[in-house]
Amino acid sequence: MNGRNIICRRKITGAHKCCRLLLGRSVRAAVGLAVAAALFVCACGKKQPALPDKALVGVAYYNKSDTFLNQLIDCLSEQLDALDSPEITLTIRDAAGSQRTQDDQVKELLDAGCKVLCVNLADRADPSEIIDLARERQVPIIFFNREPVAEDMMQWDQLYYVGADAEQSGVMQGELAADAIRSDSSIDRNKDGKIQYVVLEGEAGHQDAIIRTEYAVNTLKDNGIALERLSCGIANWSRAQAQNRMLQMISQHQNQIELVLANNDDMALGAIDAYKKLNVTESAVPVFFGIDGTDVGLKAVADQQLAATVYNDKEGQAAAMAKLTAKLVTKKGLGDLELENGKYIYLSYFKVTDNNVGMFYKDDSYH
Ligand code: GAL
Ligand code: CA
Repeated sequence: MNGRNIICRRKITGAHKCCRLLLGRSVRAAVGLAVAAALFVCACGKKQPALPDKALVGVAYYNKSDTFLNQLIDCLSEQLDALDSPEITLTIRDAAGSQRTQDDQVKELLDAGCKVLCVNLADRADPSEIIDLARERQVPIIFFNREPVAEDMMQWDQLYYVGADAEQSGVMQGELAADAIRSDSSIDRNKDGKIQYVVLEGEAGHQDAIIRTEYAVNTLKDNGIALERLSCGIANWSRAQAQNRMLQMISQHQNQIELVLANNDDMALGAIDAYKKLNVTESAVPVFFGIDGTDVGLKAVADQQLAATVYNDKEGQAAAMAKLTAKLVTKKGLGDLELENGKYIYLSYFKVTDNNVGMFYKDDSYH
């Protein structure tokens, strides 16, 4: 296993502050002793359940260049650190966009003795290899953010998913844009009664791309906003790719674009970068809407560069994953969790405008 990829955020006290996986062996040995001791106590007639108090947990995610995912994993790391019991040693691996790499990483995590895996698939349509590997060792998987299709989730009863409802984020983005258009007639710059718009989409085939676009546009229409679509470009959640796509769209449509709907904040910010790069006068700049509420996204809302965003509740998702992890490790209390169809946890999105951004932004200067 490549040690450079191993990140351990848990502070280990004592002489050896090393967090390499070697430590996993001593942790497992300690767990073994604890279990033996507990069994001994039981054998003497005192009913003490043998609960693991320490565990290795593996996190595999699709790409470390993704802004939202990095913030979500930081939250998860904090939440797992905050658990009293079991004490978690966390190992995080980045697949750099390759499912094959991720399959190998998962095998290594299982070989290292992980008791639960949290997996953000590189290819959400291709989880079978990972599911087979985990089932062989009876290690449960919590998929997150990139939702496997329903049939794959049925492959085994130890598969869970934590995420959010893409449709809700699309509807909220559409409502935010409709509110802005209704309250500011200058958005319809050419005064033709229609809003000329473009869309910047996430990865093709990602549940959060197609669905967000569809519901944002339909919600605008349901709110009585007449629309004219000028263009749509895939920018794979990336700020740099979105800037390039936006530069192309601007050169095709000059100053006709009045509204930019982006499937995430990073792409909305890439679109804003394109306008800045071209030094377009403010009166010819469209309104931009994002989704996520990343730190940079919230700052752009506070600075009134981004008209609004939709908060993708990374704290809530991380807390749900940490709680589920603890219950899966200890094999206790799973029944206390409200799981949809016994497998799914969806956290709500929230609308963010410059009126309430202070509630979400952590930096005091934006409160
Ligand atoms: C979405 C998020 C995007 C990106 C993507 C990766 O939920 O809005 O910014 O992180 O997940 O799967
Ligand atoms: Ca117009």
